[in-house]
Amino acid sequence: PCTGIVIVAAGSGTRLGLGTPKAFVTLAGEPILAHALRSLTGLPGRVAVTIAVPPGDASSRAMAEELAQHELVPLGEKLAATAIVDGGDSRHESVRASLAALPEHCDIVLVHDAARALASPDFFARIAGAVRATRHGIVPGLPVIDTIKQVDATGRVVNTVDREFLRVVQTPQGFPFSQLLAAYRAGEGETTDDAATFAAAGGTVEIVPGEASAFKITGPEDLRQAEELLARQRG
Ligand code: CTP
Ligand code: MG
Repeated sequence: PCTGIVIVAAGSGTRLGLGTPKAFVTLAGEPILAHALRSLTGLPGRVAVTIAVPPGDASSRAMAEELAQHELVPLGEKLAATAIVDGGDSRHESVRASLAALPEHCDIVLVHDAARALASPDFFARIAGAVRATRHGIVPGLPVIDTIKQVDATGRVVNTVDREFLRVVQTPQGFPFSQLLAAYRAGEGETTDDAATFAAAGGTVEIVPGEASAFKITGPEDLRQAEELLARQRG
């Protein structure tokens, strides 16, 4: 088996507000992307990796190439291929460009946000295993802990949503590779996650338990939280 990995790292990091594309911002002394690549080391079988970087940004591309060279060493012989591609204007376009660069013989693909830099290697292996076991789309999700209100355009509450049936989803999201590729080829509209594209093409998607450390670094507070988590892990 060959696991295709897409790491989308082409966003600009507007909400983090540091003037550097988010995946290349320093977290505990290293770029966010370096941490994200370490999540791949526990995957079984062959692994092919594509990283989407900000289009036309030579310094981000050079840094991604260097990180791919150094951080993927633990995969050893298992590393089948690496590619760095220009991302697009949206995450959706970045995923589309990345999928096209993966070797066609991969049986499954995991799509991951570089911004979820602290997702664990075990988590990646678990998602890959679930895709192979079910041949479905597999999405990690956490229960919703806040009460959710549905409102109308004026802000008036129209409904309290039953949160028992809601999940906050994360990445990596895993899929049979040829099916996700076909879904991206067929899909015209933009979606905010890969499971939505997969489902729009008729695929079945299942939720499995998420993990707290796979939270997305979005704003400055998230970067501090990631620093603290790493400091605790490193004792
Ligand atoms: N992403 C991407 N290509 C884009 C937009 C986003 O590859 N055109 C990636 C980001 O690099 C990130 C993931 O998608 O790893 C999730 O996006 P988000 O957290 O929104 O990151 P940014 O778009 O960089 O942040 P912001 O929206 O604050 O600018
Ligand atoms: Mg964004």
